[in-house]
Amino acid sequence: MPARILVVAAQPAISLQLGNMLRRDGYEIVTAADGPEGLRAWTAERPDLVACDNDLRGPSGMELVMRIRQAEGSGAHTPVILLGGSTEIDAKVAALRAGADDYLAKPVHPQELSARVRGLLARFGRAQPQRRATAGRVVAFYGAKGGVGTTTLAINTAIALRKKLQRNVCLVDANLQFGDHRVFLDLGPDSRSIVEAVSAGTAEIDMLRGAIVRHDTGVDLLLAPPSPDQAELISTEQHHLLKVIEILRGVYDHVVVDMDEHFDDHMLDVIGIADRLVVVLTADLSCVKNVRLVLQTMDQLQVPRERLMLVLNRSNAFTGISAKSVESVLKRPIEHQVVNDYRSAISALNSGTPFMAKRPDSALSKDVIELARLVDKPAAATVELRQLELSPVR
Ligand SMILES: Nc1ncnc2c1ncn2[C@@H]1O[C@H](COP(=O)(O)OP(=O)(O)OP(=O)(O)O)[C@@H](O)[C@H]1O
Ligand SMILES: [Mg+2]
Repeated sequence: MPARILVVAAQPAISLQLGNMLRRDGYEIVTAADGPEGLRAWTAERPDLVACDNDLRGPSGMELVMRIRQAEGSGAHTPVILLGGSTEIDAKVAALRAGADDYLAKPVHPQELSARVRGLLARFGRAQPQRRATAGRVVAFYGAKGGVGTTTLAINTAIALRKKLQRNVCLVDANLQFGDHRVFLDLGPDSRSIVEAVSAGTAEIDMLRGAIVRHDTGVDLLLAPPSPDQAELISTEQHHLLKVIEILRGVYDHVVVDMDEHFDDHMLDVIGIADRLVVVLTADLSCVKNVRLVLQTMDQLQVPRERLMLVLNRSNAFTGISAKSVESVLKRPIEHQVVNDYRSAISALNSGTPFMAKRPDSALSKDVIELARLVDKPAAATVELRQLELSPVR
């Protein structure tokens, strides 16, 4: 049995985010939206740990912790992590006084949460997750607008990771209705897709293997359903896409996800587990406006800024807006630029042979290889937190 964690948070974005982070580590998650519901769930489910946001409607998280401690009396102690908005020592002391075992300031970094949870479960002799977090990295490509080149960059970066950096890569087409990797990669009528992965059950990689298509470049593909009506077989309630990606990351060095433009529940699941979110944009006004909204949404979802990477595609195409002015409007640097080469991009698309496979020495390919190198490196804060995980938690 995996350890069970009760997540108590009023804001759906925080609940979703915490749930995703912890599910990714193999825990079973139960959620509650306020103190009374939290107390009921604690009584009914007897979780191995409680992760509770202090900012609840009605009684605060701290009050919930006090109620749990009262109810426990001298019985078994449930470890509790309280999450608060302040980094001040006073907030931490107040949380510990109320009976919490640990305090984390928001925004919470996935690996810090992971390390704290593991430390507390070990300290209180509770079950550890069945499946440890594995090293495979999820790199999600998100287009700030349709047609900016997201699929082109996702596919070619996956090939560069495979061919130039010798990584094991699985490329997932998460445009469930209108995925176009079959066209980009000239796969003809191959109908294997994520639908098989889901109908086979999502428990094991062996079951997923029948759904995966090996491309000539050595990149493994998990394709979108062959027709739009089959997209609904991939359930958001059952977090199918998330579960499939979790299994894949246990086997591959990189799981590259070509995301859908719409922020539906599947995409929120992907955002929750992505180690790198590559936001693809072009230098035009409507795109820059969208990137601003994307950055705001990521803040609301508490996605750490260092996990995001802005990539300007078709960087030298004339739009009248320079990369510098995009940076100053967005108040953050563009991490990488990819040249405009319409001829290579479109002929690759029409022939079904990606430019990274056909002309790896072209300027366009060189920029994509550089992008692959960037996503292959862990984000700066991740490195620090990996070290934290290795040292005693307290
Ligand atoms: N760096 C580039 N230089 C020139 N053309 C490019 C470049 N990148 C992509 N393109 C072209 O832009 C068009 C759109 O690309 P692509 O389908 O990858 O975009 P997308 O963002 O995935 O679109 P959609 O919203 O339909 O999913 C294609 O014709 C592609 O060849
Ligand atoms: Mg696309």
